[in-house]
Amino acid sequence: MNNYDANTLRAALPDWVHECRYLAQTDSTNREAMEWASAGARHGSLVMAGFQTAGRGRLGREWTAPPGSGLLFSVVLRPPAGPDTWPLLTLAAGVAVCECLTGLGFRPRLKWPNDVVLEGRKVAGILAEAAEGVVILGIGINTGRVEFPSAFAESATSLETVSGRSLSRLELLAGLIGYLSREIDGPVEAVVDRYRPWSGTLGKRVRVDLGSGSVEDRAVDIDQSGGLVLAGGRVIRAGDVLQLR
Ligand code: BTN
Repeated sequence: MNNYDANTLRAALPDWVHECRYLAQTDSTNREAMEWASAGARHGSLVMAGFQTAGRGRLGREWTAPPGSGLLFSVVLRPPAGPDTWPLLTLAAGVAVCECLTGLGFRPRLKWPNDVVLEGRKVAGILAEAAEGVVILGIGINTGRVEFPSAFAESATSLETVSGRSLSRLELLAGLIGYLSREIDGPVEAVVDRYRPWSGTLGKRVRVDLGSGSVEDRAVDIDQSGGLVLAGGRVIRAGDVLQLR
C-alpha cells in the first residue's frame, strides 16, 4: 500500500484544498476532521487515511475496507447557507463522485440518497456529519480488488473489480476534488436538478427500511430538500432503500 505525507498530498491536490493531513491509520477520518474543525480547521481542510479501524457509515453502520483497498477521506466544510440546506451537500457529493467516475470510463448510478453503484453493486459511500457551523463530508471509494466481508460479498464492488485496472488513490482523489469543489460551492438550489439524472432509484419500486418499520412504493421524485418522494406522496428523509424493480 502507498502511504503519503501531507506535502505529497498538498502538491497533488487542487488549491481548493486548504490544508491536508495523511494518516496511515486512524479510527475514522470523519472523527479526525471533526476534531480538527473544533480546533478551527477551515473550509476545504482534508484528512485522508490508508486504513480506518472504526470507519463510520450511514445509519450508524460501520464502513470497512482492508488497508490500501480504498480511498478514504473527509473534508471540513463551512457552508455559507443555513443548516436546512446541508442535506443537499451529500447529494452534491454523490453527483461529484459520479461525474469523476464517468470521466474515468465507469457508468455509475446513485441509489438514494448517495450510495454510488456500479453494475448494481455499491462502490462508494458518503457520510456527512454536522456540528455548529460545520459539516464533515466523508467519502469512501472501494478502489482495489479485495475480498469483502461475507455480509457485503454480494452487494459491494470496487473500481478494480469492475475495470480490471488498478487506480492510484491519490490521482483519483485529485480528480474527485475538482468535481467536488464545483458541486459543493455551486448554487445549492440547483443540486437536485443535477442529481436526478444520476439516480438509479427514480422510477423503481422500492422498499425503504425506516428503522421503525418499512414502506414499499414506487420512487417518483427527489424534492428540493433532497427527500425521496414516493408515488403515494410520502417523502422519505432518511432510510435504507432496497430497489426492487
Ligand atoms: C455509507 O454508509 O455509505 C457511508 C460510508 C462513508 C465512509 C467514509 S470512509 C471516509 C469517511 N470516514 C468515515 O468514518 N466514514 C467516511
